[in-house]
Amino acid sequence: MNGFPLPPVPVPGPVPQPAPAWILWGLLVFTFMLHLLAMNFVVGGSVIGAVTARLGRRGGRPHHAALVHWLTQAMPIALAATITFGVAPLLFLQVLYGRLFFTSSVLLGWFWFAVVPLVMVAYYGTYLLAFKSASLGRWGGWIRWLTILIFVTISFIFANNMSLMLRPDLFRAIYASGSTSHANLSDPTLWPRYLHFTLAAVAIGGMWVSGYGLVCRRRRPEFGQWAMRYGAHWFSGVTALNLFMGFWFLFSLPRETMARFMGPVPVATAVLGLGIFAGMATMTVMFLAAHAPRPAPLVSGGIGGLLVTVVCMVLVRDQVRRGALATMNFEPVPWVEPQWTNISLFLVLFVAGAAAVVWMVRALVMAGRPETGDGPV
Ligand code: HEM
Repeated sequence: MNGFPLPPVPVPGPVPQPAPAWILWGLLVFTFMLHLLAMNFVVGGSVIGAVTARLGRRGGRPHHAALVHWLTQAMPIALAATITFGVAPLLFLQVLYGRLFFTSSVLLGWFWFAVVPLVMVAYYGTYLLAFKSASLGRWGGWIRWLTILIFVTISFIFANNMSLMLRPDLFRAIYASGSTSHANLSDPTLWPRYLHFTLAAVAIGGMWVSGYGLVCRRRRPEFGQWAMRYGAHWFSGVTALNLFMGFWFLFSLPRETMARFMGPVPVATAVLGLGIFAGMATMTVMFLAAHAPRPAPLVSGGIGGLLVTVVCMVLVRDQVRRGALATMNFEPVPWVEPQWTNISLFLVLFVAGAAAVVWMVRALVMAGRPETGDGPV
């Protein structure tokens, strides 16, 4: 050290941004939203599947068994979608915030390395459950809970990384401590952030179940009505609890970051206000759906409300990042040399890929057989 304090934010490498920042940011937010929706099916659907399998053991509950069957069969596909939709925001995150994200990943060390093997083990678990469940016997239940444990562990590692990358002021001290695997446990935002994400995943898993009931209500009316109400119970109950986590997360933020939402940055105040309003309205609608004789219109409205909520909350999360980094004097790389051919190619392949996914999901949902009431999905 020569007596001049180094700035906490690592200096950018001599590489220009491959596209204007607003394009990279738009793609980061959009692809992250897709990642979230798929990840919520994986985490929430697994939790709901495990609990429903347990409840279904009591006998005389064919709908429970049919729902567990669908969730189990769809899980490997949903996990593939989670990973694929995770790669895209990973690219944009690295381009926009690479010097923070790479540093926090290095400091997390072995925890960060663990993500890939954990995903692989969980993948085997979902495949075993989907294709060998008949021969697994009592092991099936254990494998279900083990995959859930792995999913929530992966989420925890991500929450650690996403919160640590906002604290460049800690980087040097952690690095100097010589630790090869640093979890960001002393960060007051970590637990509320993590619990808020995890509960939201379970709630949105409930919305996926209601949505599935909505789609198959004509072919399998009894099951469809039941699934809509059952998912609505999960959504409204877990969201009621999650409101507290959301406020805990907000109040755990550093004062300057939280202040951003109280007026000085109108877009931050607007997305937070609209997000809370949409979330509470969706919760109310789904509570009514859980008890309605004809829940379909309410579930459709609930899905719309949820999409608005998710968009707002992803933007709130972005504002948290901007606010936290503004206090660290983080400046984006100003040097831009757009690679339009690559960007266009990405967009074309992305649209084609998304269309293929929509087609596959449609085929999967439509594969149910009305005669048996117990289709393959
Ligand atoms: C089952 C597997 C996975 C689960 C449960 C999961 C869960 C999560 C969660 C909870 C977050 C939010 C963390 C926070 O902000 O506190 C997150 C963010 C993220 N995940 Fe995943 N994830 C999974 C797999 C993956 C994979 C395989 C990739 C990449 C190949 C990935 C890429 C990302 C990225 C880039 C973000 C941050 C995006 C941003 O900050 O804008 N995820 N994930």
